[in-house]
Amino acid sequence: MTLPDRINAAVRAVPSWVLYALAPLPAAWWFYLGFTGGLGVEPISALEHKVGLFALQLLIAGLAVTPLRRFAGVNLIRHRRAIGVVAFFYVLLHLLIWLVLDMSLLWSQIAADLVKRWYIIVGMASFVLLIPLAVTSNNWSVRKLGSTWRTLHKLVYGACLLGGLHFVILSKGFQLEPMVYMAIIVGLLGLRLVPKRRPMMARA
Ligand code: HEM
Repeated sequence: MTLPDRINAAVRAVPSWVLYALAPLPAAWWFYLGFTGGLGVEPISALEHKVGLFALQLLIAGLAVTPLRRFAGVNLIRHRRAIGVVAFFYVLLHLLIWLVLDMSLLWSQIAADLVKRWYIIVGMASFVLLIPLAVTSNNWSVRKLGSTWRTLHKLVYGACLLGGLHFVILSKGFQLEPMVYMAIIVGLLGLRLVPKRRPMMARA
């Protein structure tokens, strides 16, 4: 049995509800740390950063599913929807932390921040692209939309690029970490452009 076969067997043994059940645990742990002084002197900012970064990592994990199957034979397709839904949950949480804990729902301050820090608008654009994907992440929508569903879900490419760009812009000066994330996103999207090999023609 090859390594991809072993991984695929292990992946098949895990039902998706396990991923949904485990999903809130990192957030719960970070909130606990924040309330108990474990996130340093600026717990809200630290929380915002941890949740934002995890959201981006999950979006990238979702983007990696197709290239992993095609180029490494590792099949995570059955968990792709769960990864996407959990990613959306973390992006939403990231937004709520900013709105409620950071901005205290002060709309004038929120508006001023949007004008001053335009990377927030880029983050918002990414979030907006993810909304239709989250809304249609159910079996009924997959059946109802047919092939349109696949086209619609290509919006995740734009959402990932904007999420990566948001990270690059907010990190002042040249910083390696956001660049690496952006390179991974561009790389994973680029792999989709590699032409598929045609099946060998049967010899006459
Ligand atoms: C929904 C609208 C969004 C708002 C209002 C927002 C807001 C913010 C804010 C205020 C910060 C902290 C910036 C600082 O301290 O200077 C931040 C950081 C971050 N955000 Fe967002 N964001 C949004 C969407 C997103 C999305 C869609 C992603 C990616 C999936 C994302 C990923 C990140 C990352 C990776 C960081 C930096 C984490 C780190 O420094 O380790 N954000 N965001």
